[in-house]
Amino acid sequence: MTAEGCVRVAAVGDVHLDADVLGRYRPALEHLDGKADLLLLAGDLTRHGTADEARCVAQEFGGLAVPVIAILGNHDYHCDQQAEVTKVLQDVGITVLECTGTVLHVGDVRVGVAGTKGFGGGFAGACASEFGEPEMKAFTRHSRELAERFGVALAELECDVRIALTHYSPVPETLLGEPLEIYPFLGSYLLAQAIDATPGVGLAVHGHAHAGSERGTTPGGVPVRNVAHPVIKQAYNVYQLSSVLAPA
Ligand SMILES: [Fe+2]
Ligand SMILES: [Fe+2]
Repeated sequence: MTAEGCVRVAAVGDVHLDADVLGRYRPALEHLDGKADLLLLAGDLTRHGTADEARCVAQEFGGLAVPVIAILGNHDYHCDQQAEVTKVLQDVGITVLECTGTVLHVGDVRVGVAGTKGFGGGFAGACASEFGEPEMKAFTRHSRELAERFGVALAELECDVRIALTHYSPVPETLLGEPLEIYPFLGSYLLAQAIDATPGVGLAVHGHAHAGSERGTTPGGVPVRNVAHPVIKQAYNVYQLSSVLAPA
């Protein structure tokens, strides 16, 4: 926490670790406690979602001086080893969320983080619906169900300020730079609806859109930050939560 009482949130996503990437982030993380109060990992932690790659993530991001909270991304599901990937991360003290939340104490401030991978479907005026073929219904239903459960997790946090952590984007602004044609595979307005439904969300962090833009805002006014490593181009960004620290 800063002298002014700001909570400092470090975040990065899409680190896509494998053995050849080991060590890229660690030097910048060694003294993180002087710069941030917690670190968020916004999914796509591995390249193909293998347990071996997860062990690289554990080596790179485990045992830090600040709490580390992660969600998985689509790459982390690729080999159907997401349960093992999760366990490897948990074994080194990383909190892994999926439609769940956790509360940290930073000074006197209770900081709540709810997370989900989320899914696609698109944005208002150009989105998928649960209509037609079973495959289309399943695609849209997956997105809706994750957003709904994520919204409940966010609302149930007993804290002073909330942070929303997703892999897919809740808004189209942070996708700027990506081809318009793939927006429905990069995020869903349902995530923004879930974020805006609960008061006291100070920050929404996501990844997934490697060619997107860093900054956006939900329709309800919550700052959104795309922290995909190819976007922020450094080991992590730090965001300060100050204006939203009034008790919820
Ligand atoms: Fe990625
Ligand atoms: Fe992704």
